[in-house]
Amino acid sequence: MRIAIVGGHGKVALQLHPLLVEAGHQPVALVRNESYHDELRRLGAEVRLLDIEQAEATDFAEAFSGCDAVVFAAGGGPDGNIERKQTVDLEGSLKSVHGATEAGISRFVQVSAIGVDHLPSPDRGEVWRAYVEAKRDADAALRASDLDWTIIRPGRLTDGPATGLVALGPEVAHGDVTRADVAAVLAAVLDDDAAVGHQWNLVGGDTPVADAVARAAA
Ligand SMILES: NC(=O)c1ccc[n+]([C@@H]2O[C@H](COP(=O)([O-])OP(=O)(O)OC[C@H]3O[C@@H](n4cnc5c(N)ncnc54)[C@H](OP(=O)(O)O)[C@@H]3O)[C@@H](O)[C@H]2O)c1
Repeated sequence: MRIAIVGGHGKVALQLHPLLVEAGHQPVALVRNESYHDELRRLGAEVRLLDIEQAEATDFAEAFSGCDAVVFAAGGGPDGNIERKQTVDLEGSLKSVHGATEAGISRFVQVSAIGVDHLPSPDRGEVWRAYVEAKRDADAALRASDLDWTIIRPGRLTDGPATGLVALGPEVAHGDVTRADVAAVLAAVLDDDAAVGHQWNLVGGDTPVADAVARAAA
């Protein structure tokens, strides 16, 4: 498959590209900055330019052309900018869903975050609340779409090495998970049609990734 990754230079995405190549796929990294080109090419990704906030849904469809699946792995990041929760985490996902539909692509995997269906306590602050609401609303819109979706909701991301061992499922409790393990789960669900129509929390655990996906989808 040719797989478009929105947020193709993110820390999870950078670990996903080589896994997709290894599995025989062609990752297409959608990025806003031309300077990422060489690094991404070295990881085996094709590179296309797409600024999530400037682009319209039709631009997304064009950027997805020739692809068989879309992964939404972008995020406004921890810069404290409340507006970017709306323009990247929510609207970026909505435009990706519309773009995929327009481009005739049915498979769509979204990186969300654990616990976002519950509003945080007010002491977490308004930026965190905006982030949670953006992820929650993006997931709801994707679930309501006609796409063949899978939503992965990781716990707190860390930069440790891949462990290959996770806990994955609708009711899995909060915890940490390495970005490398998130990438491995994304690669696994892209290759498993049984993962379609599922929304799973993901944290580090004791089940090998392939078994965790198979069990969660059973
Ligand atoms: N941090 C956590 O603990 C945590 C927990 C659960 C879920 N998540 C979610 O997991 C996902 C992946 O995390 P990550 O650590 O890989 O995130 P990341 O490294 O911050 O990557 C996000 C990517 O989105 C891109 N992006 C932002 N605005 C853009 C725009 N206007 N146009 C094009 N690209 C844009 C960024 O591009 P640039 O490289 O150009 O900045 C960046 O590469 C995110 O959705 C995050 O919200 C995070």
